[in-house]
This record gives sequence, structure tokens and C-alpha cells, in this order.
Amino acid sequence: MTTYNIAVLAGDGIGPEVMAEANKVLDAIASRFSLTFNRNEYAVGGFAIDTQGEALPPATLAGCEAADAILFGSIGGPKWDTLPLEKRPERAALLTLRSHFDLFSNLRPAKIYPGLEALSPLRADIAASGVDVLVVRELTSGIYFGQPKGREGEGDDEFAYDTMRYTRAEIERIARSAFEAASRRNNKVTSVDKANVLVTSRLWREVTEEVAKDYPQVTLEHIYIDNATMQVMKNPAQFDVMLCSNLFGDIISDECAMMTGSMGLLASASMNSAGFGLYEPAGGSAPDIAGQGIANPIAQILSAAMMLRFSFDEAEAADAIERAVVATLEAKILTAELRMPGATGQAATTQNVGDAVVNHILSEQN
Ligand code: NAD
Ligand code: IPM
Ligand code: MN
Repeated sequence: MTTYNIAVLAGDGIGPEVMAEANKVLDAIASRFSLTFNRNEYAVGGFAIDTQGEALPPATLAGCEAADAILFGSIGGPKWDTLPLEKRPERAALLTLRSHFDLFSNLRPAKIYPGLEALSPLRADIAASGVDVLVVRELTSGIYFGQPKGREGEGDDEFAYDTMRYTRAEIERIARSAFEAASRRNNKVTSVDKANVLVTSRLWREVTEEVAKDYPQVTLEHIYIDNATMQVMKNPAQFDVMLCSNLFGDIISDECAMMTGSMGLLASASMNSAGFGLYEPAGGSAPDIAGQGIANPIAQILSAAMMLRFSFDEAEAADAIERAVVATLEAKILTAELRMPGATGQAATTQNVGDAVVNHILSEQN
């Protein structure tokens, strides 16, 4: 029996609630596909600050290093918002993990499934136009990590600065991720930049053009970020792979999530060149709904499926999870945020959705 070691970092807010459902789904997959998932749970984020004094305790980092993959929930929340930036959960835990493991390649797939167009806030004809976008986001450089960063001076003279910086090598490797992905999809890369203003974007365009020469079957287009945000609403079916720098990918992926119906549907994989990955919903700890058992667990469940596919090469198991998620949505087992205003009957709870996915996975076996 194949055994996989997973470091489970549930985190804050809805993190533990949706992670419980992903764990149930992994149990069902283990039983159906005769796999063993060795799961070790570690404290991270605000919970780790409260219990161990820091957002990424050494035991958590060591546990991640020893694992085959990291399954991550979400971190942060109002309680820790006033901490200095470098101590906040977002930077001290999540950005540190991304950087420590060199998880430069972030994949965020957003698809409107045929029959599920009504979940989308887009106009019906746009939602039905065949929307299937993969955001490929550079995750370990750009304005998030560029130095110097700082805040100086006083009074009217006070100022603050971040540095947007990209090396040729950093752009090249994320561009290759995008072209590789497009080669397995619909052979189109749209590179998102602000080359009319930013020097980093000029280099980004140049390098992307060079990488494109190695993929003659893939079409490359360039688009400015401001236009890209509007085109996603106007005509999302024109996109296959959207190649983005760190900040632009952060922004456009939330928009792509919402296009499919909810932030709670968007999974993500963050990988390094050795294939090691951290898998997490693209959304956050959702403090506005945490603790009520109403968060949508699908992004967390689909993140587990991405882990099976990319880190463990268990494509059949990943496919089974994705089919079960689509079946659950088709059966209208929907958490509150996915429902039409005025819908009758009860919304599904976080647990209801997890149970439905599990039942579908196990029913296919029988
Ligand atoms: P958010 O993604 O947590 O929430 C935005 C909106 O989406 C909210 O209305 C929320 O209720 C909704 N939403 C998100 N996930 C949902 C789900 N699974 N089911 C139903 N609705 C869902 O973004 P925010 O409010 O800007 O950030 C809250 C905190 O999370 C902040 O501290 C932020 O820094 C942090 N954050 C963490 C991560 C992460 O851990 N990977 C990602 C993004 C934000
Ligand atoms: C995401 C999140 C993070 C990011 C935050 C929490 C640091 O918004 O994964 O999209 O900006 O990358
Ligand atoms: Mn984000």
C-alpha cells in the first residue's frame, strides 16, 4: 500500500472548518484507492502566535520539511492585524513557507462547469461561453519580496516604499510553467503586465517572448492588467492560461474565483522545481463567516485533489474528487454564499458539502 506523508496546517478562521472536510475526503480516497495518508497536524498563523508565540514555529517548519506535501488551510484575522508586518501570520508564516520551499509556481484553476452557469454572477450568455481559465502566478518574488521595503521620516515627510523587482531567471521559470500548462490545455498564454508604465513589465514581456519560441504550438498574447480585469468580466472564454506576476496574479485570481460563483471554489497549488508543493484555497480565513459552519469547503477539497495530482501523481484519485465536487454542485448541495437571493429551503452546511463529496466518491466504488 502506497503511503504519503502530509503536513496539515489548518490555521485560522474557516481554515480548521474546511480542513476537517478535506480530511474526510482524503479518508474516502484512501479507502477507495488503497492508499495511506499519514497526516501530521501543525500549528500555524494566528493560532500558533497565540499558543506558541510565533506564526511559524520551528516544529511546524520541520514537519513541513519532513513531509511529501503540505496541505494548508488559511491564516490571519482581525486579532493579529495590528502586529508589525513581519510578525503577522501572512508574512511570518505563509510568505515564509513559500519562500523557504521556493514555491514559485502557483496554479489557480477557475472553471464554470456546463450546467453550473447559474452559480456565476456573470450574465448567463457569458457564463455559458465556455469559461476555463488557469491563472499561473509567480509566487516568490516581485513586489511582495523585493528589497528595500520600508517606512521612514516623520509627519508630512513620512514615506513608505516597496520594491517591484524581477530577475530574468525568475521570469523565465514562471513563463515556462505557464507554457507547459498551456501545452496540456488549449495552447494559449495571455501574459498580464503593465508594460506601458513598469520597467519590470518590460523585462517580463521580453523574457516571455523568448520563452515562447520554445513552444511554437502555443499562442502568446500580452494584455495590460487594467484591461485584463475588465476582459475577465466581458469575455472570460478568450483566456486559457493567464501568466501573472505575484501582485497581479493575486488580484486577478480573486476575480476569477468569483466568476465561477465563490471565493470558496478556487483551489491552488504552489510548487517548486522539484515538484514539492503546498496546496491551499486561494481565499483567506473569512472572519466574517468563521465559526458558523457555513464556509464552503470545496476550495480546500479541490486543493487536496491538486496535491494528489501534482505531488503524488495519483491522477485517478484526483479525478474522483473533482467528479464528486461537480456532482455535489449539480445536486444543488450549496453553501449559503452560492445560493440565489430568496432561494427556498436550507443552505447546505460545511459538513453537508463534505459529506456529499465523500458519499459520491464511495458510491462510485460500489
Ligand atoms: P477572504 O478570502 O478571507 O474573504 C473574502 C470574502 O470571501 C469574504 O466575504 C468571505 O466570507 C468569502 N469567502 C472566502 N472563502 C470562503 C469560503 N470558503 N466559503 C464562503 N465564503 C468564502 O479575504 P479577506 O477577508 O480579505 O481576508 C481575511 C483574512 O484572511 C486576512 O487576514 C487575510 O490576510 C487572510 N488571507 C489569508 C489567505 C491564506 O491563508 N492563504 C488568503 C487570503 C487572505
Ligand atoms: C493569497 C493571499 C496571500 C497573498 C496573502 C494572505 C499573503 O491573498 O494566497 O492569494 O497575497 O498571496
Ligand atoms: Mn489573494
